[in-house]
Amino acid sequence: MDRQTVIWQVPQGVYDDGEALAVTPEILEAANVLREGGLVAFPTETVYGLGANGLDASAVDSIFIAKGRPSDNPLILHIADLADLDQIVARLPARAACLAEVFWPGPLTLVLPKTKIVPMTTTGGLDTVAVRMPAHPVALALIRATGVPLAAPSANVSGRPSPTRAEHVANDLMGKIDVILDGGPTGIGVESTVVDCTGLTPIILRPGGVSKEDLEQAVGGPVELISHQAAEDLLDGPAPSPGMKYRHYAPKAPALLVTGEPPRLFDQLATMARDLVAKGEQVGLMVSREAVEYWQEQSIDTTSWQIICMGSRGDLKEIAANIYGGLRDLDNTTVTRILLESVPKSGLGLAIMNRLAKAAGSRIVGQ
Ligand code: TXA
Ligand code: MG
Repeated sequence: MDRQTVIWQVPQGVYDDGEALAVTPEILEAANVLREGGLVAFPTETVYGLGANGLDASAVDSIFIAKGRPSDNPLILHIADLADLDQIVARLPARAACLAEVFWPGPLTLVLPKTKIVPMTTTGGLDTVAVRMPAHPVALALIRATGVPLAAPSANVSGRPSPTRAEHVANDLMGKIDVILDGGPTGIGVESTVVDCTGLTPIILRPGGVSKEDLEQAVGGPVELISHQAAEDLLDGPAPSPGMKYRHYAPKAPALLVTGEPPRLFDQLATMARDLVAKGEQVGLMVSREAVEYWQEQSIDTTSWQIICMGSRGDLKEIAANIYGGLRDLDNTTVTRILLESVPKSGLGLAIMNRLAKAAGSRIVGQ
């Protein structure tokens, strides 16, 4: 269905606890659009979300249509206040309450038993619902002004990298949604951590902005990470986290994730890039500043490579903020092959490696 998409500027900024939220005429008007069943893309601290009234099945349906998203891939409900939980969550286990207390508002999504009021369209037919309270002044103001939980997946066409800027949303969804609220670049750049809180031990279904280490510290016990095998099994069986069975974040050119430790890692990336160029390929590399500096020091000729610098290996926040934009930038070049540099899997590195591996379609090489 064709729609006239309007782009409205809203305040840029990071959420500061206690700060008065941004409530501008544009946000109030966007809330009206949402109440009437429309689609509004809005900034969060992780990536842009594509919002609809999460309790209105037909509004939620139009999210799936606009994104081209399979209807069994459930959506996250976004709330602005803890009191909003009561109407959508049937039971709040103590560990989940603790996680909400520590990390909300923030990049953490909790999977909990749902109430009847949450449509099956929102949860992809599951009897659980994913909930998060985003730490972004515009997102929080929009949810409050709308007065209902907002269902919001990342505001990209299904299978494309998640949007970290309003222009990414426009590139994917112009003419398919009603409003884009442009609040500038998002801060974190990878999506929230999704944690299944329905069992005894919390299970990370998708690593994200909150690290496994920080979750374990908060609950004072172990937090599991869903196994690769369990994720693979989702390809056929009923899915505890249906999102995991779809190929995500795919750049147009085939990508390979190269693992290892510097400086051998940097040497290997250079060797592979040279070999690909010798075979007539146009090579794009998404690498760290340290790799670029190393190649300069070693006088390695990089002139025929399309290099995207993700940031410093010493600052995983910087890398996380740049990976999706980097993948989109590579899509706008003529490269035919992409090499991705790996990072250590601790802290935010786990989420970064998860996204890079998905971009590479699980094609991983190295020690
Ligand atoms: O940071 C984020 O989480 C962003 C911003 C917009 O909030 N949203 C986001 O939504 O990444 P989406 O739809 O792209 O990813 C939601 C993930 C999917 O992997 C989905 O399968 C999983 O959460 N999920 C949602 N509901 C679930 C449920 N009831 N049980 C298990 N997994 C669920
Ligand atoms: Mg997504």
